[in-house]
Amino acid sequence: MEKGNQIYEGKAKILYETEDPNLVIQYFKDDATAFNAQKKGTVADKGVMNNKISAKVFEFLQAEGIPTHFVEMLNEREMLVKRVEILQVEVIIRNIAAGSICRNLGVKEGLKFYEPVLEFCYKNDDFGDPLINSAHILAMELGTREEIAIIENYTYKINELMSRFFANLNLDLVDFKLEFGRCNGEIVLADEISPDTCRLWETGTGRKLDKDRFRHDLGNIEEAYQEVLERVSK
Ligand code: TMP
Repeated sequence: MEKGNQIYEGKAKILYETEDPNLVIQYFKDDATAFNAQKKGTVADKGVMNNKISAKVFEFLQAEGIPTHFVEMLNEREMLVKRVEILQVEVIIRNIAAGSICRNLGVKEGLKFYEPVLEFCYKNDDFGDPLINSAHILAMELGTREEIAIIENYTYKINELMSRFFANLNLDLVDFKLEFGRCNGEIVLADEISPDTCRLWETGTGRKLDKDRFRHDLGNIEEAYQEVLERVSK
């Protein structure tokens, strides 16, 4: 698949056109940012590892009946994906308390929630991706009532599937962020699913194997991503 013009560059990925207007190439960079890009750095081969990990997770979810933008892996840093119109909403689901919910609500890190917590954020860096609810989504025309219902259903289902998937690899799925797109009138899962977008703790030890190692300078970032890649590749 020939790489055409760049369509978009985000903090961790670049999208390129292909000769097929319905398909784009998603290139994974080594750049890492945290806290709305106040903290910046690079993680050696993060792009390669996230491309491979995302491909594995998308393949698994696709096989379980979740529509995704994933088509195929092209090479170490690039996957072919369907062209979608990304909704300007980030969907977060949390099984265990960590990160912003601890800062915002005073819950203790590690608290196992009685039920998963689903959150929406407005995908807008100028405002630091603030938390919103479905009323904001409707009022700001970020999505329709029907789309919100579909996205919520998919997100709970994906949480069940991914929690099982990672539990089998001895990893606790603490929380993760999803992005959805519109493709031929359908809602499909898009973006990436990787240690950049999920919190993964080793079962039993609680060892953090995700981007919190970068966010909080815990060291051994590359090793943590590599370990997740090895586990999903088994
Ligand atoms: P948070 O606790 O910082 O709100 O993050 C919740 C989850 O969402 C965590 O798994 C990391 C992921 N996430 C992203 O993928 N992108 C982001 O910009 C943020 C803030 C979080």
